[in-house]
Amino acid sequence: MAIGVFDSGVGGLTVHRALVDRLKSADFIYLADQANAPYGVRPGEEIVELTRAGCIRLFEAGANLIVLACNTASAIALRRLQQTWLPGYRQEIGRPVNVLGIIVPTIEAATGVPWEHEAERRGDKVEALDVLGVFSTPATTRSRVYEIEIDKRRQDVAVFSEPCPTLVHLIEGDAGAVELAKTVEGHVAALKTRIGRHPDRAILGCTHYEILADIFRAALPPGTPLIHQPATTADAVERYLERHPEYPPGTGGTRRFLTTGRPGPQNGLVEAFWGGPVSFEAA
Ligand code: DGL
Repeated sequence: MAIGVFDSGVGGLTVHRALVDRLKSADFIYLADQANAPYGVRPGEEIVELTRAGCIRLFEAGANLIVLACNTASAIALRRLQQTWLPGYRQEIGRPVNVLGIIVPTIEAATGVPWEHEAERRGDKVEALDVLGVFSTPATTRSRVYEIEIDKRRQDVAVFSEPCPTLVHLIEGDAGAVELAKTVEGHVAALKTRIGRHPDRAILGCTHYEILADIFRAALPPGTPLIHQPATTADAVERYLERHPEYPPGTGGTRRFLTTGRPGPQNGLVEAFWGGPVSFEAA
């Protein structure tokens, strides 16, 4: 069996990289739904259907546990699929399978409050306000998932989101550094205007943006802490596997890369981030 990692495109490779570094002997299958990227500008129903189709493809290829390395799919589709589709699908294929998202570990890292301890924190005193900026796709921003879930856990953290409608497209299209920097600077300035000052910390709430972490760091005030989803997700998946031996992640250390888009080598931005060539097979 293998761990499946899913994203609309190459952004999830940032999470995949951290998972592979952490779980070296596990087998991995990565699926990029590049034929349908970007997801973040699509209506919710389409995001749910595309995510379900991607999960089926990964389960058919031999995955038993899928990590949605995509904030948009995690925010819009995960709960629906867990509640209305997975139970029946498990019976259909007759083996244990599950799908995890990346928003829970990110919120745990942002609040310092583990998901399961939520109730214990209610009634805490509200002290100094910590302003957290979230850069995300329009669909994730519209879902208000970060605002809602962080507010449940920490009333001393104020969350402000900035939708970035063109960034995924620019990254998938291998845009130049100058255009990427200009776009990111525009979003950092827009967020500053909305808040009235820069945020104290920031979440790159779309896995594609991790590829541009240095550009975000340069556009934000020096030293602004960034919450990194690849590391927080790798921690969470490692803990999950320890608690759930029913999802053995394989022992062969194999890595397959599938795409619904154009097979072959990925663009220069991706290779620079990855530290070497990445070549995709047709899904
Ligand atoms: N990497 C995906 C995310 O984290 C990008 C979604 C999209 O295709 O717009 O949201």
